[in-house]
Amino acid sequence: MAAQTIATETAATAPTDSVDLGPASGLSCRECGATVPLGPVFACAECFGPLEVAYDLPAGDPEALRKQIEAGPANIWRYAPLLPVPADVAEKPNLNPGWTKLVKADNLARELGVAEGKLFVKDDSGNPTHSFKDRVVAQAIEAARAFGFTTLSCSSTGNLAGAVGAAAARAGFRSCVFIPHDLEQGKVVMAGVYGGDLVAIEGNYDDVNRFCSELIGDPLGEGWGFVNVNLRPYYGEGSKTLAYEICEQLGWRLPDQLVIPIASGSQFTKIDKGLKELIALGLVEDKPYKLFGAQAEGCSPVSVAYKGGTDVVRPQKPNTIAKSLAIGNPADGPYVLDIARRTGGAVEDVTDEQVVDAIKLLAQTEGIFAETAGGVTLGVTKKLIEAGLIDPSLTTVVLNTGDGLKTLDAVADSSQATATIRPSLDAFRDAGLAAH
Ligand SMILES: Cc1ncc(COP(=O)(O)O)c(C=O)c1O
Ligand SMILES: [Zn+2]
Repeated sequence: MAAQTIATETAATAPTDSVDLGPASGLSCRECGATVPLGPVFACAECFGPLEVAYDLPAGDPEALRKQIEAGPANIWRYAPLLPVPADVAEKPNLNPGWTKLVKADNLARELGVAEGKLFVKDDSGNPTHSFKDRVVAQAIEAARAFGFTTLSCSSTGNLAGAVGAAAARAGFRSCVFIPHDLEQGKVVMAGVYGGDLVAIEGNYDDVNRFCSELIGDPLGEGWGFVNVNLRPYYGEGSKTLAYEICEQLGWRLPDQLVIPIASGSQFTKIDKGLKELIALGLVEDKPYKLFGAQAEGCSPVSVAYKGGTDVVRPQKPNTIAKSLAIGNPADGPYVLDIARRTGGAVEDVTDEQVVDAIKLLAQTEGIFAETAGGVTLGVTKKLIEAGLIDPSLTTVVLNTGDGLKTLDAVADSSQATATIRPSLDAFRDAGLAAH
């Protein structure tokens, strides 16, 4: 069940049947199935379960829908018929994220013992603020517009704050975002540069999130759209676009195995939702796939529960260089466990040292510089291949959800100049690096 159970509803406008969010028909409770009209509501009034967007999805000819999508813009709005956004969304001021590269990673495959042509990196560092969070914020901002909010907010481990700041600037919203006080400089600068208010909280992400849950129920935060709290059902849908893009980029085929980083677990659950929708719509063939979750050992509540064979996710106090994934009490943790077990996947964790090694491995094989979250995901991929849980003969997609330029410190010590010399040929020869 969702961790945010303090305020179930905050509204600039009350829930209403009249908002236009395209094919979204309402919200339904993931636990008990109760339905409510579209609104800035995130927890079920009956059972406090998390609410999800329900749809009237386009019925009919899959080939026609594929063609319609392929003719759409080179961003997430090509999937507008499957998202909670108005039909004219592409004309609104939005950062238009998505359609990032799916890189066939044969050099990396060779290093990991994966069959040629079978390993792919979905490189979401190519988004406007250099993380996958632009996808979720793009959805939340359309919901915020529909519900009449004028201020956007969030609790963030770093990337989300930047994505909200940028999207708000572009769309003409005020923003006020909240982060833990000890984030990497790259994350802080990215969150501050867009001109919104940036508040550093003396505590970890779970303290920030608790604070935001209080703020949302208080007049001090009245009328604010918190993208990952009261707009969370809409926000989450943005991660489905990763599933859509990966399948479309594979030629409308499902990958066999996907490795996904876990902080709150939202992205993991929504990628599963997206894959299921593609199957239901007949856009891809109905065949099994396995979802694998990746955490850092220093913040591994879901992986510990998975390996302990339990459904109970015990909160942890995070201590890892993978700060973007440092959520000790993940709202969607139990759902991640369900999905990993149902699909035959797994959840695993790696040490900070393995995170750094994986960042370098990706950079040195494929020329992709991942942030620590990407290092976690690749590190876990390597570990699961070695353990025989990921099958190296099948198609595997590894997500890189953020840009290494935001977490330079992780590799700064080991990525210095090979030599520092005077500008002379003699000095270069002496350094032992010359061709002859
Ligand atoms: C780079 C990056 N990857 C992955 C995640 C995980 O997101 P989720 O909370 O949806 O599990 C985050 C969350 O902040 C992130 O910043
Ligand atoms: Zn319910």
